[in-house]
Amino acid sequence: MKSQALIFLGAPGAGKGTQAREVSKEFGIPQISTGDILREAVKKGTPLGLAAKVKMEAGQLVPDEIVCGVVEERIGEPDCMSGFILDGFPRTIPQAQFVDRALENKGRGKPLVINIAVEQDVLLKRLTGRRTCSACGEIYNIYFNPPKAEAVCDKDGAKLLQRADDNEETIRQRLVAYDSQTRPLIDYYRQKNLLHDVEGNRDPEPIARDLIRFLKSA
Ligand code: AP5
Ligand code: ZN
Repeated sequence: MKSQALIFLGAPGAGKGTQAREVSKEFGIPQISTGDILREAVKKGTPLGLAAKVKMEAGQLVPDEIVCGVVEERIGEPDCMSGFILDGFPRTIPQAQFVDRALENKGRGKPLVINIAVEQDVLLKRLTGRRTCSACGEIYNIYFNPPKAEAVCDKDGAKLLQRADDNEETIRQRLVAYDSQTRPLIDYYRQKNLLHDVEGNRDPEPIARDLIRFLKSA
């Protein structure tokens, strides 16, 4: 894999987090999820969390300058030296332009952008059914990938949690935000010849297998 910076693009529920975890394990590079970082900040009640909370609860995007600051700091950490996966960032054209500048400044070259495409009607069910392990972050789905025992993680027995923004009303807002602000990034990266499309309407395992094979050859 030549390109050190991977960007995972896709609607809410497309499977960015699920696939990024697999790619991170395979290549030993960190998964940087802006959603996870923001949720952690909300939980701790930090100034960042306070600034993000209202937007996240409403299913709207957190302002660019806040999210770009978070990413700038994170990609400067030592574990990002040999590459990283941006999961859920960039999500607006200004954020994409920020990534371009940041990579150029670090002499890292162009990113490789993975676009996971999933039909709209599937997304709602994926999101309302999602449960996440409170200890290890493993992602489950009560419809598509249920844990062996109800509401506990197969790996460590910890409690599974449902995200506050995975309710129907907020999901609809998140999908609106995706359509108006994030979808244009598909063309942005396609025009630059940096986009690789992945068919996301399949089980997670074949998607991960194809993706890893592609990345090994990229
Ligand atoms: P974030 O946490 O990034 O949420 P999101 O983009 O809405 O994406 P999701 O995490 O919901 O979906 P995913 O694609 O990772 O799917 P997953 O793999 O979990 O952002 C949350 C909020 O933070 C935003 O609304 C915004 O307010 C703020 N924010 C974050 N980044 C920002 C930014 N850059 N700028 C501004 N604001 C920002 O899978 C979903 C479910 O489907 C799971 O249950 C999973 O098990 C299941 N599943 C996955 N793949 C499959 C499959 N192939 N088949 C069947 N089920 C599957
Ligand atoms: Zn767990």
